[in-house]
Amino acid sequence: MQASDVKKVSVLGAGLMGSGIAQVCSQAGISVIMRDIKDEFLEKGMKGIKDGLGKVVSKGKMTQEDANEIIGRIETTTDLAKAASEADLIIEAIPEDMKLKKEVYKEVSQNASENTIIASNTSTLSINDMAASVKNPQNFLGLHFFNPAPVMKLLEVVKGKKTSDDVVQFGRDFATRVGKTPVVCIDSPGFIANRVALPIMIEAVTALEEGVASKEDIDTAMELGYNHPMGPLKLADLVGIDTVLHSIKSVGDKIKSPKWKAPKLLEEMVKEGKLGRKTGRGFYEYPPK
Ligand code: 3HC
Repeated sequence: MQASDVKKVSVLGAGLMGSGIAQVCSQAGISVIMRDIKDEFLEKGMKGIKDGLGKVVSKGKMTQEDANEIIGRIETTTDLAKAASEADLIIEAIPEDMKLKKEVYKEVSQNASENTIIASNTSTLSINDMAASVKNPQNFLGLHFFNPAPVMKLLEVVKGKKTSDDVVQFGRDFATRVGKTPVVCIDSPGFIANRVALPIMIEAVTALEEGVASKEDIDTAMELGYNHPMGPLKLADLVGIDTVLHSIKSVGDKIKSPKWKAPKLLEEMVKEGKLGRKTGRGFYEYPPK
C-alpha cells in the first residue's frame, strides 16, 4: 500500500499522544477512528483536540469551519475490532506496557486485513518484541510522534528486523503526507531522539539535585545557550515526570551504561504525584486548566 492510498487511520489510545496523532491525521484530510477503552477517555481526548484547535482559531490561523471539519473527521469508539477492521493504517498509542500492547496487537491482528499497516508510537519499547504479536510483521513499524504532536515536525520511522523496505518507505511518505519530516532508524533503545535527549534531562536533574544552579537558570542556560525552545526541566514537566522516569529506566536497562541512571529526585517527584503539567505541579507549578 502507498501512503497516498490511506483513506482511514485508526489511532488506539486517546491520551495526549493518541489524540494529538488523531488531530494530525485528520488535519491532513484523512478520516480517523480514535479508540480507547472508556468513553470518558475519548471525551477527554476530543476536548484536548477542540481546545488546541480553538487556540489556533483564536489566533486567526484557521477558520472555525476548518476546525469543525477536522473535528468532524474523527470518529470515536471503544470497539477495538471495529477500529482494527476499518483502517488502512493503525497507529497504537496506548500506555508503555509491553504485556498490554501484545494483548492489543493480538486482537488487532485477528481483525485487521492482510494489507493493513500497523505502527506503534512507542518511545522506548522494542518494535521487534511487539512485531512478534502481529500476524504480518513485515507490515509492522514504529511511527514515533513528538509532543505536542500537532506542532512538532519530527516523525521517527523505526524499522524492525522484519519490517519490509516498502513499509519503511510507506512510513516516510506517510510522514510527509501528514506534514512531518521523517527520520529513519533501526529498532534500538530510545531510537534517535530520546537516546540523545534523555541524557540531557538526566544531567539537568542531577545538576539541580547537586545545587549547581536553580531550575530557572538550568532551563535558561539551555534555552539561550543552545536555542532549545524550552529548558530540559520545563520539557520534563511537559512530557510528564512519570513518563520521563519510565523512559530513562526503559532505555537505561537496555543500554546498560552508568550514565543512564535515573536521578533520585525524579523518583521522589513521582511518589509525591508531582508529574508535571498534567497534575499542575512538577519542577514548576501550573494553573488549573
Ligand atoms: N494544534 C495545532 N496547532 C497548534 C496547537 C494545536 N493543538 N497548539 C499550538 N499550535 C500551533 C500554534 O498555533 C503556533 O503556530 P504559529 O507558530 O503559526 O503561531 C505553534 O503551534 C506554536 O504554538 P504556541 O505559540 O502556542 O506555543 P510556543 O511557541 O510557546 O511553543 C511548544 C510551545 C511547541 C511546546 C515549544 O515550547 C516547544 O517546541 N517545546 C519543546 C517541545 C519538545 O521538545 N517536545 C518533544 C517532547 S519529547 C517527546 O515527545 C518524545 C516522547 O517519546 C516522550
